[in-house]
Amino acid sequence: MRIDIITVLPELLRSPFEASIMKRAIDKGLVEVHFHNLRDYTTNKQKSVDDYQFGGGAGMVMSVQPIDDCITALKAERSYDEVIYMTPDGETLNQQMANKMSMYENIIILCGHYKGVDQRVRDHFITKEISIGDYVLSGGELGALVLSDAIIRLIPGVLSDETSALTDSFQDNLLSPPIYTRPAEYKGWKVPEVLLSGHFAKIEKWREDMAYEHTKNRRPDLLENE
Ligand code: ADE
Repeated sequence: MRIDIITVLPELLRSPFEASIMKRAIDKGLVEVHFHNLRDYTTNKQKSVDDYQFGGGAGMVMSVQPIDDCITALKAERSYDEVIYMTPDGETLNQQMANKMSMYENIIILCGHYKGVDQRVRDHFITKEISIGDYVLSGGELGALVLSDAIIRLIPGVLSDETSALTDSFQDNLLSPPIYTRPAEYKGWKVPEVLLSGHFAKIEKWREDMAYEHTKNRRPDLLENE
């Protein structure tokens, strides 16, 4: 898979791809991530990528021209499954969306900044608008990182068996059950007996029951879709 991220702040994006799972995926050749600095695409002398809002109003707006040139150059090289714009008024990211996108070949992620992008960018280039939650970030970069991480860890071969994404919270609309490691007793706090029993079927049943209880208490909305 190839992810092209368009941004005015590439320095904000680099380090998360240089550690842990995302680095491993890149090292294994399972994903390629490319950053594109919008300032490299602007044709005006001041190298500006934004301008005042028509009709007045506070805040700058990202201009069409550099975004057009960048996306058009990328699309001339290959076809893209999706051109995504990170924005708080987009569709809220969830696990199902990440699952679907992990099967794509190529995606572009455009990070918004300032007040956002000129509407004509959204009308003519963007195929999907994604929010990572109901709060406003200073820009789309952190959202792009969250989206990339959620997708990349699902690409076949990225996670080893013991870290398999199949048992993650949300994967079956349930939150994960509690987990424990050694020691079996610490300061008198005991690990549930069943987990030490070695009885696989009972352990599975306990985990399912706990996952259901946990979901019912914390996120009953997830059970409504069952
Ligand atoms: N840009 C600003 N806020 C955002 C959010 N919540 N999700 C995605 N991109 C954003």
